[in-house]
Amino acid sequence: MNYSTLNQTIAPQAEGDCLLLAIYQDKQLSNAATAIDQASGGAISDCLAFGDFTGKLGETQRLYTLDQVKCTRVVLVGCGEQAKYDVFALKKATKQALAATQSDAISTIVSYLGDDLADNSQAVIMQSVLGAADNDYQFTEHKSEDSAQAKQQLSIAFSDHQEALDASLNTAAAMALGCQLSRDLGNQPGNVCTPSYLADTAIGMAQDFDALSVDVLEEADMEKLGMGSFLAVSQGSDQPGKMVILNYQGAADAEQAPIALVGKGVTFDTGGISLKPGASMDEMKFDMLGAASVLGTLKACAEMQLPINIVGVLAAAENMPSARATRPGDIVTSMSGKTIEILNTDAEGRLVLCDALTYVGKYKPRLVIDIATLTGACIVALGHEICALLSNEQSLADDILRSGNTIGDQAWQLPMNDDYQSQLKSAHADIGNIGGKSAGTITAACFLGHFTKDYRWAHLDIAGTAWQGKDATGRPVPLLTQFLIDQV
Ligand code: BES
Ligand code: MN
Ligand code: ZN
Repeated sequence: MNYSTLNQTIAPQAEGDCLLLAIYQDKQLSNAATAIDQASGGAISDCLAFGDFTGKLGETQRLYTLDQVKCTRVVLVGCGEQAKYDVFALKKATKQALAATQSDAISTIVSYLGDDLADNSQAVIMQSVLGAADNDYQFTEHKSEDSAQAKQQLSIAFSDHQEALDASLNTAAAMALGCQLSRDLGNQPGNVCTPSYLADTAIGMAQDFDALSVDVLEEADMEKLGMGSFLAVSQGSDQPGKMVILNYQGAADAEQAPIALVGKGVTFDTGGISLKPGASMDEMKFDMLGAASVLGTLKACAEMQLPINIVGVLAAAENMPSARATRPGDIVTSMSGKTIEILNTDAEGRLVLCDALTYVGKYKPRLVIDIATLTGACIVALGHEICALLSNEQSLADDILRSGNTIGDQAWQLPMNDDYQSQLKSAHADIGNIGGKSAGTITAACFLGHFTKDYRWAHLDIAGTAWQGKDATGRPVPLLTQFLIDQV
């Protein structure tokens, strides 16, 4: 996918294989559609008069050889209610329009879908690119038959005098690359994407970008550091666990305190001895999408050379049942010194994360965000649309919520009052690793909260949003990247 902006005042003069025009519900014409309609002697009005296209979000209708239009085709794109049309509806409309124009004969596409939103031109560019990249994404590495889609080139046009905003274009394209990396890693099966594979991906990125360097802690290193909680998970697998630390030095001041991103990288979660039921267990290959989103976000930041320092930590392990696996009831000592009674080996995400969260304290971070497919309870609470946010500091939570709303990758805050702490009691250790039936997302965050007392911290539970069906979504790379941009 190639993107460009087009500072083109009159839609009929745009050249290409295909022109995208917004039509709102009840056949309302956008400004650009009106311009074409007038130039072509009412061709669009005539088409709408047939009544089979009404402008509902996602509808498309092709028109050929309109007089006075330089593009070979015009595609009317349903954009839903005009009063509700915003950059996020634009993203969906763009995605659907490009899906409907996937053909070898159509490679250059000029989109006027953001025309009526041009007073928000940066966001129009961002969401057009993100929508286009979403449509463009394919994961076919393991398919024998080549199903390569036609290559499309999207030119985002404005019919007023807005400057072509190439900075926004580059930002969005970088974000899209980050999403793509995260999705590719997530879609890889557990037999390919192991902890070593995540570490190798990080090493590859450090070779690609001067500002990135990487350090991998092996299990022996983690033993020396006293990471008994992390190792309790990885010891059940033949795949060695890895703690991957990526340093991104983007700020001119090398001493600037970094923002830390810590990702859950469980490359397959069987549940361990507390084995999961078989149905949909294949989806537990996605249990590393927290770590993948850290890699994706770092890639986006490195691509756009964001002037900020970031440290990314991937807590990468596989959760397997075996003769070496942890038993329910085992007690381990975490790097922090706190002892943990592992009452359920399927609550492994918090076990790998807590040692990573303790470790990252040594970077004296400005703030820490961890990202994890942590609880099924999160899907019960928020479904697949919005991820959960919990934090030990309200101003940080507010900043994250705002960035999510800006980029259309939303989070929703849940409380984590001390009242929930009693659910984590253990008979014989400092804390247990489960909090019982109720408020599972909150008690998981409360568990992590024991290890994050020294810094400003927020936790994103992405169990519902990191994948849809059998496909990784790339979320929350846009949210994290936007948040980092907002911190510069
Ligand atoms: N990776 C799962 C959470 C999960 C489940 C994410 C389904 C997405 C879909 C996590 O490791 C887990 O198993 N959590 C348990 C915790 C429980 C044992 C306290 C859960 O949510 O059931
Ligand atoms: Mn689990
Ligand atoms: Zn898990």
